[in-house]
Amino acid sequence: MVGTGYVGLVSGACLAEMGNDVLCLDLDPNKIRILKEGGIPIHEPGLDKVVERNVAAGRLHFTTDVEEAVRFGTIQFIAVGTPPDEDGSADLKYVLAAARNIGRLMTDYKVIIDKSTVPVGTADKVRAAVADELAKRGLDLEYSVVSNPEFLKEGAAVDDFMKPDRIVIGAEDERAIYLMRALYAPFQRNHDKLVVMDVRSAELTKYAANAMLATRISFMNELALLAEKLGADIELVRQGIGSDPRIGYHFLYAGCGYGGSCFPKDVKALIKSGADAGQDLKVLNAVEAANDAQKMVLVDKVVKQFGADLSGKHFALWGLAFKPNTDDMREATSRVVIEELFKRGATVSAYDPVAMHEAKRIFGDEPRLAYAKNPMDALEGADALVIVTEWKEFRSPDFERIKAVLRSPVVFDGRNLYDPAMPRAAGLTYQPIGRA
Ligand SMILES: NC(=O)c1ccc[n+]([C@@H]2O[C@H](COP(=O)([O-])OP(=O)(O)OC[C@H]3O[C@@H](n4cnc5c(N)ncnc54)[C@H](O)[C@@H]3O)[C@@H](O)[C@H]2O)c1
Repeated sequence: MVGTGYVGLVSGACLAEMGNDVLCLDLDPNKIRILKEGGIPIHEPGLDKVVERNVAAGRLHFTTDVEEAVRFGTIQFIAVGTPPDEDGSADLKYVLAAARNIGRLMTDYKVIIDKSTVPVGTADKVRAAVADELAKRGLDLEYSVVSNPEFLKEGAAVDDFMKPDRIVIGAEDERAIYLMRALYAPFQRNHDKLVVMDVRSAELTKYAANAMLATRISFMNELALLAEKLGADIELVRQGIGSDPRIGYHFLYAGCGYGGSCFPKDVKALIKSGADAGQDLKVLNAVEAANDAQKMVLVDKVVKQFGADLSGKHFALWGLAFKPNTDDMREATSRVVIEELFKRGATVSAYDPVAMHEAKRIFGDEPRLAYAKNPMDALEGADALVIVTEWKEFRSPDFERIKAVLRSPVVFDGRNLYDPAMPRAAGLTYQPIGRA
């Protein structure tokens, strides 16, 4: 497993759980040190137990040694990051470096699997990179390149990997398809979940999935803004349309914008792929613009309440992670909210059950940002409360206490956690999203 991040570590551990021998490679010595010492470098529910069990069973190993990793397995997964480049396209430097390492060191047949989210055409680039390295060595070894995009969700990643809805395999040669079937057989004993297709379609499938989910969110966020203007309640609208089986309830929650390591970058990358191919993706351009605007919605509400100059004001912020059950803060709305509050002269006390160490890494010794021990502690001395992440522990707070502690009793709820009647009954000025 090349790359031991959210995807690589979960995939590696779950493959080991099914009895495979797995070696996880990462170039970050710190990550590998933590894993070798029995720790887990990320927060992912249930992952610690799977890792612990499989390390103890001698099936799961970690290394920073590229040569050892290439020698180790016939099946070489590439699960490295594909961050956005300056022009929005997926930066393939890590993927292609991993592919070159395999070509530079392989001595027998390999099936090289792109598990990272990569644009259409990447498998061709991986194939060419390996061929180039083999040519430099004067070798003509056989290898296959497969696209196997990953659909796991951070926060439920172990379950998603162990019980996938579908396993998409983009491959064009029988040997590779046979190996993929064998590898994934234990994950689909109940019924066949393998969707085998050509490589380009598999690459596009991953972007299509994330783009569709991001579209649903942006659609609801825009309707929420309209609902506020028209005096309607987006939560009731959500229930009204979600009950239609053609629509369904998932991914219809209005809020303060989507973040994370996937949706923002994948929407951007697909737009760029479209532009490069001469296809303007009008819907996705709007999805992205709507989301950028939505990340400002909480700040707009704060400014409307307290004015544009927030000097001397102090805000409690609940939730730093881009969603619950993860410590991932990549593209998190909290980052935009915090920066925008700073810009207007305010200070912030933040609380998050697991992401505060990540916030400290991102914001460093920022004097305007304090960290609270618990949600109520964050409210001390604060003018108002801003809720950014829908952690379970925020769902039933003591509204009377919140009212008593806040200087001006306003709650800006970016995730529509409460029945508006409840905070209002406690005397709070409650400002959710899209609920007039
Ligand atoms: N995080 C998710 O929920 C998720 C879900 C589905 C797909 N994906 C995709 O999977 C890919 C990985 O995402 P992630 O969140 O796991 O990223 P991550 O940043 O958590 O992990 C990537 C790891 O790869 C390592 N790395 C980089 N180059 C390397 C090399 N040449 N050899 C060995 N290790 C190397 C990095 O040090 C890092 O630890 C991305 O393309 C992402 O879009 C992510």
